Amino acid sequence: MEKLDISMSEVIQVVERAFLEKAEGRAEVPPKPGIHPQKDAFIHAMPAFLPKMRSAGVKWVSGFPENPKRGLPYISGLLILNDVETGFPVCIMDCTWITAKRTGAATAVTAKYLAREDSKVLGVLGCGVQGRSNLEALTVVSKSLDEVRAYDVNKENLRRYVEEMTAKHGLKVEAVDSPKKAVEACDIVVTSGPILKHPQPVIEASWFKDGGFACPLDFDSYWKPEAMHSTDKFCTDDKEQLEYYKTQGYFKNTPQVYAELSEIVSGKKQGRKSSKERIMSMNLGLAIEDMATAKLIYDKATRKNIGEKLPL
Ligand SMILES: NC(=O)c1ccc[n+]([C@@H]2O[C@H](COP(=O)([O-])OP(=O)(O)OC[C@H]3O[C@@H](n4cnc5c(N)ncnc54)[C@H](O)[C@@H]3O)[C@@H](O)[C@H]2O)c1
Repeated sequence: MEKLDISMSEVIQVVERAFLEKAEGRAEVPPKPGIHPQKDAFIHAMPAFLPKMRSAGVKWVSGFPENPKRGLPYISGLLILNDVETGFPVCIMDCTWITAKRTGAATAVTAKYLAREDSKVLGVLGCGVQGRSNLEALTVVSKSLDEVRAYDVNKENLRRYVEEMTAKHGLKVEAVDSPKKAVEACDIVVTSGPILKHPQPVIEASWFKDGGFACPLDFDSYWKPEAMHSTDKFCTDDKEQLEYYKTQGYFKNTPQVYAELSEIVSGKKQGRKSSKERIMSMNLGLAIEDMATAKLIYDKATRKNIGEKLPL
């Protein structure tokens, strides 16, 4: 996949197109069922069909919080693409790269409509794979970004993040020593620590500045319910998925959803209205993002003759 040289802006484009298809009512993306072999771990089945893109398939992705202690990544998994005419599987691919990139891309699409155009300071809490890909994607859409305030409970992870991100993006990337310093005075805040079924959130309403945009990737693990309720607009990438999670014991106290991302991208609902609004989008991660990205990968790999033919 890395050999294909797919840029973040290409991923952002296909992810945005997937949300437009969803807005037109064409995408099929049922809430993801999951199994939970370890505490706070998950393995999710994520099927989706995007008729216009002619992409259908399923991602089988796991997140195991103890993996980094074993020297393994938190997220791993496989993705199968199916032929939309025959249903036959046409391609099997690793889904680690896709999950990293498409999640950052979804944040960027959301920020394009909900963050202030002149956003300068980004706060990142959780400096792992997502902390990296979200920064990469946000630099594509938020051209005024010039500073990152990074926080991580693991000092070594934080040190590496600051070193790598400074070298990669040429922005001022500063390590801060408390969650508060990674939220206050930030125009965009991404939280990407672990998802906890019984969260102990710390972010207070008063830390989140006027005109700010927040994108939690770790559900409600970081933001206190009062902080979420204090926002002017609370959005999500998928209302149905959010409701489904509630039935599974997550999201015990979240505000009413103003709009889902597809409605905002398609113009059915207004995005940011003023430079003072404080907006949050609870992006849960959707299989349409994966299938859009997987199709991009498959088409490019086929054209460039990269990959391996497997007998069925
Ligand atoms: N919503 C989505 O679409 C989506 C998609 C993929 C991943 N995720 C979620 O994003 C999160 C990060 O995933 P990842 O692949 O980057 O994991 P990762 O293991 O690569 O990185 C997580 C980082 O968070 C740090 N951390 C742990 N507890 C913390 C805390 N309390 N405060 C700050 N930092 C903390 C760890 O030290 C590590 O550096 C996970 O919760 C994952 O489930 C969401």
